[in-house]
Amino acid sequence: MKEITIRKAVAADLEAILEISEGIYNGHDYFPCVFLQWLTKPNRTIFVAQYGDQLIGLRAIHIIDEGKTFISQGLRIHPRFRGLGLSSRLIEAIHGYIRSEYPNVCRERFTTKSDNIERLAIQKKYGDIGLFEREILAYYITKETLNQKTLEDEAQNLGFQVKPCTESFLYHYILDDSVANMFPGRTIIVDWEPFEALRSNIGCILEQDDCVFSDRDAADCSRDQLPKSFAHGRRSPRVKHMHWVASIYTEDPVMFQVHVVQQLKCAYQQLQGDFIFSTFHKERHTKWGRKLLEENIGLKPVTEEDAVAAIMLYEDSLKWKYGLSGVGPVDPPTPAADVSDFLGPKNDVRMQQIQGRIRRFCSTFKDGWSPSFVQFHEE
Ligand SMILES: CC(C)(COP(=O)(O)OP(=O)(O)OC[C@H]1O[C@@H](n2cnc3c(N)ncnc32)[C@H](O)[C@@H]1OP(=O)(O)O)[C@@H](O)C(=O)NCCC(=O)NCCS
Repeated sequence: MKEITIRKAVAADLEAILEISEGIYNGHDYFPCVFLQWLTKPNRTIFVAQYGDQLIGLRAIHIIDEGKTFISQGLRIHPRFRGLGLSSRLIEAIHGYIRSEYPNVCRERFTTKSDNIERLAIQKKYGDIGLFEREILAYYITKETLNQKTLEDEAQNLGFQVKPCTESFLYHYILDDSVANMFPGRTIIVDWEPFEALRSNIGCILEQDDCVFSDRDAADCSRDQLPKSFAHGRRSPRVKHMHWVASIYTEDPVMFQVHVVQQLKCAYQQLQGDFIFSTFHKERHTKWGRKLLEENIGLKPVTEEDAVAAIMLYEDSLKWKYGLSGVGPVDPPTPAADVSDFLGPKNDVRMQQIQGRIRRFCSTFKDGWSPSFVQFHEE
């Protein structure tokens, strides 16, 4: 009987990682694209599960927030080995590693898409707490369906321009305590990774070629005039596609649209060829985003029916889970809404809506495939 072993990944695993990725997200998997780069980053570690010579699973961690958080990401199990408890083994092995190597880490965070039933099942099993969600709009962009002039016209119609943020402005203003409250849970989502709005995270929040904008720059800020909006955009390659992922933070619907147009301009200029443009934003801005992108600019949503999905942020308090001693001060979770929103009947209603969408999606399969759903609320 061959043993399953869990070890750190090495560059030679790339081919096997590409194979595991094959059936995942229909060519939109990001993991093989970042694998080699992540191996070189001191705060990231990638683990793989191996059965005999075959690589059958993987998962990565990223230590952030001054060493008190680890982001878990890239959970993948080879299709032939699913449903056997392997992801649970990987999760537990990583928790053991964190406890011995990073005793100051006191919480795990991860994001997932609202229709990822398998991942949400695992979230439910471990009792991870939902902190907040941001809605997602995603559109196909081709050089035929969009041109620079349309974007310039739209920017002019909106009548306001946002300003590029320098690294110094990001550090001194956006990541200042007084401004960081504009981020729900004081957390900025950057290409699916959640970072607390801390100056120590600046190297993760701002990478080369990122496009970051605010309604103000240093010249027009004062004690009473601080930035009220922020948008971050990053090129995000996937196995068979190119994506641009933007996170937009503002209360104002017009400012939201100004940032959307600016991000689209940056993506259009930076990316050659076709790509998918997506934004993460506050729920109530979705209707403005759809009007702008579909009616005014004429873009086609990635999924015609149910164009809207959400990114959800979950947290697991490791101190609570293992009763660790020697852990540094633990901040309580900082949900943007009441925690009961995520655990109680309200969450059930939301989950039923998501499951309804997935049922409709599944009914389009000829063989009538249907997923097994999870009960999200137990008395
Ligand atoms: C998500 C994924 C990693 C799960 O791996 P797995 O090894 O099959 O999961 P496990 O067997 O360890 O199951 C973990 C729990 O989730 C539940 N689960 C797994 N798949 C499920 C499904 N389709 N529907 C409902 N529950 C499911 C299991 O019942 C189990 O709970 P239990 O121990 O209480 O029975 C795997 O399906 C996968 O690689 N999917 C594609 C990539 C992906 O979506 N990754 C997650 C986002 S990064």
